[in-house]
Amino acid sequence: DLRGPVLGIESSCDETAAAVLAPDGRILAEAVFSQTEDHGRFGGVVPELAARAHLAQLPGLVAGVMERAGVAPRDLGGVAATSGPGLIGGLIVGAGFGKGMAMSHGLPFVAVNHLEAHALTPRLPGLLPGGAAFPYLLLLLSGGHCQCVAVEGLGRYRRLGTTLDDAVGEAFDKAAKLLGLPWPGGPHLERLAAGGEAARVPLPRPLLGRAGCDFSFSGLKTAVAQVVAKGAAAPADVAAAFQASVAAVVADRARHALAMAPGATALVVSGGVAANSGVRAALTAVAERAGLPMVAPPVRLCTDNAVMVAWVGIERLRAGLTDPWDHAPRPRWPL
Ligand code: KG4
Ligand code: ZN
Repeated sequence: DLRGPVLGIESSCDETAAAVLAPDGRILAEAVFSQTEDHGRFGGVVPELAARAHLAQLPGLVAGVMERAGVAPRDLGGVAATSGPGLIGGLIVGAGFGKGMAMSHGLPFVAVNHLEAHALTPRLPGLLPGGAAFPYLLLLLSGGHCQCVAVEGLGRYRRLGTTLDDAVGEAFDKAAKLLGLPWPGGPHLERLAAGGEAARVPLPRPLLGRAGCDFSFSGLKTAVAQVVAKGAAAPADVAAAFQASVAAVVADRARHALAMAPGATALVVSGGVAANSGVRAALTAVAERAGLPMVAPPVRLCTDNAVMVAWVGIERLRAGLTDPWDHAPRPRWPL
C-alpha cells in the first residue's frame, strides 16, 4: 500500500544522489552530485572524504528534488535509502538522513540493497520497450561489482557467478592507470582504444571457455603491466587489446550465465562498464544468438543514482515490505 511519491537516497560510494518517483514509477525529480573531482587527485575513493561530502551534499540535494517534484515531505509515501553494500561512512550518512526524515514525518522507511537497486532498474516503467518482466539475467558490471544474477522476482535473486579478484570497472581503471590515463580511467581507455589495433598486442582472456560464469581480471592487468613496462607497444594498441579481451571474456561469461538461467526473457546489463561500446557490442551479439533482447538502461541509470533506490522502495512498499528504525547499514550485503 503506497499512498504517495517515494524519496530515494544513494550514498554508498562516491555519488551523492536523491530522487522522487511517483507511486507508478514516473521520475518526478532526480539529482546526482559526483565526487569524482574530490577523489581524482588521490587516484581512488577516499572513504572519509566521501562520507563528509555526502553529509555536506545530501540536505541540499534532497531539498532540491522535493521542491522540483512539488512534493511536501508529509505527502510522501515513504523514504528509501541505500543501506549496503558500500563504504560504511557514506551508508550511515544516507540511511541516517533517510530514517530521520521518515521518522519526523511519520513515513515508512525502506533499507535498500544497492545491488538490488541495480538489478531492478530495468523494471522502471517506460524505460525499456516492453519493460523487463521476471525472470531475466542481469550482468552487473561496475567499478565495485561484477556479477551474473538470475532475477526471478522481487527478493528472489540467484547469484550465478562473480569475480574472483577485481571488478571489471576496477580492471579498466587499473589498466588505464598503467597507460597513464586519469582516474576513473574506463571512459579514457575506451577513447584511446578507438584509435588502436587490438590484434597487435596479444593479451590473455582469463577464464574464457571455462565452466560457469565467474570472472577474473588480475592476470589480464598483470599482462598489461608487463606490456607497458617493455615499452614496445603503442598505448592505443594496448588499450584496444585490453578492451577486446574484456569484451570477449564478458561475452563468454554471459553465454554461460544464460545457459544457467533457463527461461530468462532478456539479457540486462547495468553498471558503469555497460557504457563501453566494445562490451555492449559483444553482449548484443550473445543476446541475439540466444534470441533474447539485450537491454541496457540509459547510462545515467546504469551508474550510481537514486532513481533506482526509490524504485526498489516502490516495489517493496507495494509488496507491504518496510524496515525497522534499528536496521543497521551493512558494508557487505550480498543479494
Ligand atoms: O557503476 P559505476 O558508476 O560505479 C560503481 O562502481 O558502482 O561504475 C564506475 C566504473 C568505473 O570503474 C569506470 O571506469 C567504469 O565504470 N566505466 C567504464 C566506462 N564508463 C565507466 N569502463 C569502460 N568503458 C567506459 N566507457
Ligand atoms: Zn553501483
